[in-house]
Amino acid sequence: MNSTAVKSAFDVEEIRAQFPILKELVHGKPLVYFDNAATSQKPRRVIKAESSYYATINANVHRGVHTLSTKATEAQEAARETIRQHINAKHAHEVIFTSGTTASINLAANSLGQLLLKKGDEILVSGMEHHANIVPWQLVCERYGAVLKVIPITDSGEIEPQRCEGAKGNAEELFSDRTRILAISHVSNTLGTINPVKELIAEAKKRGIITLIDGAQAIAHLPVDVQDLGCDLYAFSGHKCYGPTGIGVLYGREELLERMPPWQGGGEMIDQVTFEKTTYAKLPFKFEAGTPHIAGIIGLGEAIRWMQDYDLSAMAKHELDLLEHATTQLLVIDGLRIIGTAKEKVGVISFVIDGPSTGSGHAIHHYDLGTLLDQQGIAVRTGHHCTQPLMERFGVSGTTRASFACFNTIAEVDAMVAGVKKAVKMLR
Ligand SMILES: Cc1ncc(COP(=O)(O)O)c(C=O)c1O
Repeated sequence: MNSTAVKSAFDVEEIRAQFPILKELVHGKPLVYFDNAATSQKPRRVIKAESSYYATINANVHRGVHTLSTKATEAQEAARETIRQHINAKHAHEVIFTSGTTASINLAANSLGQLLLKKGDEILVSGMEHHANIVPWQLVCERYGAVLKVIPITDSGEIEPQRCEGAKGNAEELFSDRTRILAISHVSNTLGTINPVKELIAEAKKRGIITLIDGAQAIAHLPVDVQDLGCDLYAFSGHKCYGPTGIGVLYGREELLERMPPWQGGGEMIDQVTFEKTTYAKLPFKFEAGTPHIAGIIGLGEAIRWMQDYDLSAMAKHELDLLEHATTQLLVIDGLRIIGTAKEKVGVISFVIDGPSTGSGHAIHHYDLGTLLDQQGIAVRTGHHCTQPLMERFGVSGTTRASFACFNTIAEVDAMVAGVKKAVKMLR
């Protein structure tokens, strides 16, 4: 596939050449991969870093004096330092490795629940959260008698306190004197909306509320500076930012992490164990029970270094060009409606296809559309995208979602638009 975009500072073909999977055929057609919000593809460097750990180092970390164990420990801690620097955390020990965003939020919810939740306390989330940033809080709410509150969102899929129904004009209305935790996504996986998290964190901070940002969809597309954001906790997954699956991060502000109790117990997270009492290891190990996903950590470090080799703002601009092109081209299709039209978005486009304006013909189910696109080698996601309450808010059972990465091209967008048009003709 050739991009029609001008090769300037950002050379999409040079980037594409680094992703072996892009040479694969699906149903005999060149793969067009637009499911990056679910999991992004991996550049060769990341695949190699992970496999060469197994081929040349494979040993457990922090537990041996032998050479391979030392090498594994050094590689793991180098990755931690890369991530610290990438998100501008103050200390490397504020970077905790988990198995992904879901595990990071579960760790935070369970530990914070034990630390501070009392009956009647409130946890505030938004109406566009992924189930991973809803259900863990519901579980702790049940345990401690706390209440989950939801920030409503506008028809465009934005959090605008001044326009939200029920929030009469300012952030005062969002928070109550029982709010203890604000847990909100940086970017919506379904709508692509970039939330005004910095402003919300500032408001929460004034009231002594702990803030957790679900950064699963931000980390590959936006600069993330946890000190500038001012958040207490920030969660993300490796596999959504060109890294391996099964590895993620929970960043936490040192002072808060020191106060939070461990969630899981086992090896590595202890200082001294007796049958009477156990004392815990220092940060970050207090929160890293058991053998970590060492190869995944090394792969994630390499993915971040790979991204850092590029001008990240040029990558983001490229993805926004794809979004703009897709939006304009898709809206030409009669009955096509975009769900999520925020002013500030990343390269995610969710849509439904209603019946045509002429009245003859009917709506097209996202599942049928996704299946027909797949036959043309085009991978999109269909369904509720783990945001069922958001689907209910928009009165739809699901959407078709295309989510772009830096290796996608305008020509691929054109292929998808042609595929959608073809499917509409067949199905109406
Ligand atoms: C916004 C958001 N939060 C959390 C998650 C969960 O991430 P993981 O499955 O990697 O734990 C996702 C995954 O799609 C997501 O998009």
